[in-house]
Amino acid sequence: MGRIAYVNGAYVPHKDAAVHIEDRGFQFADAIYEVIGCIGGNLIDARGHLDRLERSLTELSIDMPVSRGALSFILQHIIRVNGYQDAALYIQVSRGVAKRDFKFPASDISPSLVVYGWHFNFQVTPENIKGVRVKTMPDIRWARRDIKTVQLLGQSMTKQAALDAGYKDAWMVDNDGFVTEASSSNAWIVKGKTLYTRRAGHSILKGVTRTAVSRVLEEQGLSWEEKAFSVEDAQNADEAFCSSATSLIVPVVEIDNKAIGDGKAGPVTKALLQGYVDYTQKGEGAQVSWKA
Ligand code: PDD
Repeated sequence: MGRIAYVNGAYVPHKDAAVHIEDRGFQFADAIYEVIGCIGGNLIDARGHLDRLERSLTELSIDMPVSRGALSFILQHIIRVNGYQDAALYIQVSRGVAKRDFKFPASDISPSLVVYGWHFNFQVTPENIKGVRVKTMPDIRWARRDIKTVQLLGQSMTKQAALDAGYKDAWMVDNDGFVTEASSSNAWIVKGKTLYTRRAGHSILKGVTRTAVSRVLEEQGLSWEEKAFSVEDAQNADEAFCSSATSLIVPVVEIDNKAIGDGKAGPVTKALLQGYVDYTQKGEGAQVSWKA
């Protein structure tokens, strides 16, 4: 059997999985999404991702297309029928299909739901983990980055520009010179035993991995502050890293060609990666809420 996706109530071959041309996700980016890691067949932080999915939908006044229990079942079914072990699972909910109009359509349309996955290789060994060089770039996105919408062109253009310039990723910077986040992950710096990451207001996406990492670091005797930091602060930090559902924890070893610390993945970052990997293996019961 080939690859299977879920679209609006049906499990269909991936090659035939499609939504309508007047889906508002297609025309207005009027849709939200989640990406959930799956390691060894187990979803990582599913609870947190579903918490955030519900919150994104509430912010946009879109109804949950199915119950949370049904959505969990669909995710598990996609894992099972596709035989996924290490994979990324993707959920997208759009407002639905309606005649093109800027105003929200009448509330009798149903949201569209798409769930599918792809094999994904997680780099989970702290010994082998290589750091990345990042370039800082202006944050050109809209003002509600806390809602996980599919409106990703700002991130996509920024990431491509960083790659074209020979870097692995971009750290985006606001008009005051403070780092917001990376193109598709949260940005952290380490100074001594304290970690800093930007406050989860409207200017960044509050990562589910960010929340889990904040628990792991506390267990390791470290503390953290939600505080904006400048590019210069980051360049002078002991260590820097990014966190996300698919990249987990990635050391940042250079920012705009300035080495961070000794220019290698640092001990705090490596220990956190190990702690996070251990956390992912504890099973669903141990997973933290994203709202916390
Ligand atoms: N991106 N910030 C941005 C802009 C992101 O796109 C992501 C995740 C994160 C980290 O969130 P989380 O820890 O919940 O994955 C932060 C996903 C992986 C993506 O779009 O593929």
